[in-house]
Amino acid sequence: MANVAVVGSQWGDEGKGKIVDWLSSRADVVVRFQGGHNAGHTLVIGDVEYKLSLLPSGVVRPGKLSVIGNGVVVDPWALLAEIEKIRAKGVDITPETLVIAENCTLILPLHGAVDRAREEARGTAKIGTTGRGIGPAYEDKVARRAIRLCDLADARVLEDKVDQLLFHHNALLRGLGAAELDREELLNQLREVAPKILPYAGVVWQRLDELKRAGKRILFEGAQGALLDVDHGTYPFVTSSNTVAGQASAGSGMGPGAVGYVLGITKAYTTRVGSGPFPTELLDETGEQLGVRGREFGTVTGRKRRCGWFDAVLVRQAIKTGGITGIALTKLDVLDGFKEIKVCTGYRLKGEVVNHLPAGQTAQAEVEPIYETFEGWSESTRGARSWAQLPATAIKYIRRIEELIEAPVTLLSTSPERDDTILMHDPFED
Ligand code: GDP
Ligand code: IMO
Ligand code: MG
Repeated sequence: MANVAVVGSQWGDEGKGKIVDWLSSRADVVVRFQGGHNAGHTLVIGDVEYKLSLLPSGVVRPGKLSVIGNGVVVDPWALLAEIEKIRAKGVDITPETLVIAENCTLILPLHGAVDRAREEARGTAKIGTTGRGIGPAYEDKVARRAIRLCDLADARVLEDKVDQLLFHHNALLRGLGAAELDREELLNQLREVAPKILPYAGVVWQRLDELKRAGKRILFEGAQGALLDVDHGTYPFVTSSNTVAGQASAGSGMGPGAVGYVLGITKAYTTRVGSGPFPTELLDETGEQLGVRGREFGTVTGRKRRCGWFDAVLVRQAIKTGGITGIALTKLDVLDGFKEIKVCTGYRLKGEVVNHLPAGQTAQAEVEPIYETFEGWSESTRGARSWAQLPATAIKYIRRIEELIEAPVTLLSTSPERDDTILMHDPFED
């Protein structure tokens, strides 16, 4: 019996939330291990839709433990607001059902302000961040000046850390001619939020170790996707964390052996929010159609997602760099009714054929996709719950994708609804 890590294999929004929710019926614990409230994970259960950003997607199932690991950057105000929003839908969230690593980094109001100000200053060269302060918070973490959740319980350390943090940030703000941050104001904000968030703080690595030894099944929930990974993605148009499954161990304190099966969530086409290279992007009517049929609007910022054909080169690269064992193919239904469907199988770059996305920014912007064209299907696959309900042309498409990406399709999703899911191979039984 393996634990399972769910990660995105493209540029995020592949449907991780839906698949984590579905798989969590087979798990005891769901753990977030990186990212923050830049994530937007949508769950559709009957008539109710949940949009989760920081809360693990297992939170809606009674009896499951939700864990926010040390690798996550936590905005306490955003988390408390999210807890209230989800509670209002009848979900029970208490320190018994939700544990946050005491050593996680906090996102402070200044991080959001820095994120948004820098994006504005970049103008057309902007990354297109979610403006949530993710990058600046991770920067403070690796610079060893971040405020961590446990610091809220230690008045003296908190004051020292605020001084160190403001020494750095106020020097920059002065240089930019901007207003400096007020020490007392920040301290008061932190003192005010401390008693609300500290009840959830815990020794996550120890809890997970106990659960592992008790034979409990752990499901790791990734945010973003492989192409937004700070090392393996389309740098600098990436997020500020490692999104690959390797991060599940470092970001939860469990060690590499704990991860088990790595399930890459993969859209049957490609989308991206924000700036950066996108070789198969369609700026025509077909791209528009994919966006409308797939309802491709960002969960967090409401931005329109850029759309294009499936890029097998990029997904294969994500499978190799992230150690993905098998994929869950989502949104197959969005391709219903297209006369023909294309898949990118390689790139042309300066007259040569290349089989991977080079790391250089110029090359990434210049690669031209080489397509293989498939006959579409006129039948509806929406809501299909068995392989037998799929048209032969759709099966052909799936089989060819498996060949191109060199990994099996383990799960198939045919609508936003929880149970419109086809299981070919149970990742927990691997
Ligand atoms: P995540 O960030 O990876 O969790 O994905 P998002 O929730 O941001 O975006 C995926 C969107 O697609 C959500 O609105 C889901 O409800 C929806 N979705 C997930 N799976 C399917 C599917 O198989 N078919 C369709 N049509 N929609 C899906
Ligand atoms: P989920 O978990 C899609 C993108 C932003 C931007 C870049 C950097 O829902 O799949 P950041 O705010 O992280 O510094 O922004 O990363 N981005 C996402 N795109 N889905 C996400 O999360 C994303 N999280 C960040 O649009 O291009
Ligand atoms: Mg999303």
